[in-house]
Amino acid sequence: MTATDSTTTDPAAAGASPRRGFGVDVGGSGVKGGIVDLDTGALIGERFKIDTPQPATPEAVATTVAAVVREFAWTDKVGVTYPGVVTNGIVRTAANVDEGWIGVNAAEVISAELGGQHVTVLNDADAAGLAEERFGAGADNTGLIVLLTFGTGIGSAVIHNGVLLPNTEFGHLEVGGKEAEHRAASSVKERKDWSYARWTEEVTKVLVTIENAIWPDLFIAGGGISRKADKWIPMLENRTPVVAAALQNTAGIVGAAMAAAVDVTVTPQ
Ligand code: BGC
Repeated sequence: MTATDSTTTDPAAAGASPRRGFGVDVGGSGVKGGIVDLDTGALIGERFKIDTPQPATPEAVATTVAAVVREFAWTDKVGVTYPGVVTNGIVRTAANVDEGWIGVNAAEVISAELGGQHVTVLNDADAAGLAEERFGAGADNTGLIVLLTFGTGIGSAVIHNGVLLPNTEFGHLEVGGKEAEHRAASSVKERKDWSYARWTEEVTKVLVTIENAIWPDLFIAGGGISRKADKWIPMLENRTPVVAAALQNTAGIVGAAMAAAVDVTVTPQ
């Protein structure tokens, strides 16, 4: 059931005494965690993954998150992603996950499993956006960045000059009479057996709807399908530049660790 994978970083490359954080990315198939160098966005050591329990109830997932954290004997703050709206630690939506999550204070439930360790829970795309903006595809850009993750659904993160506007949920925008994620998630491409060209037509419609509403400077395309970015990003016909996510499968872990650390790392101006 458990397995490590090969997403590793040489601890020596992370500097003598890096500021460290811990992030856990809760996905449909795996719960993945690791120690993060908060100054470089690199993982320190290996990522550890446990299969997502089925059904993925809050209790079962909390137990799994705790097992991942314990694997590293990590006792400080922990950041955890969740694939839906989260306000003040409380889950508000469950579009593609177990409905038992709605109304649950996920931060409290997971913290209780960890004997009271401080836990920050945030939306999965928001976590990826934080990491990509700071350390990945957005690192050289200022202004308004919108990250979209294409997977089972569509997740979104909006970041303006480093500040996240949480829970934007652009995957549920209505685009031409249909929810954006029902039109252009990568799961739709698979289900309908569409070519990249056909699917990209739908992605263009979603991007145009978003750019007409908030005029981003840059879109970052994330999710598994961004690994094949050269097959479809060049076919997009919207006006805002689109680049592929750079951090791939570590973005959620890194962003979760960043979010958990925020209250100790942000100096009030
Ligand atoms: C959820 C978002 C989530 C996205 C990707 C959507 O269905 O509403 O909160 O970020 O899926 O997991």
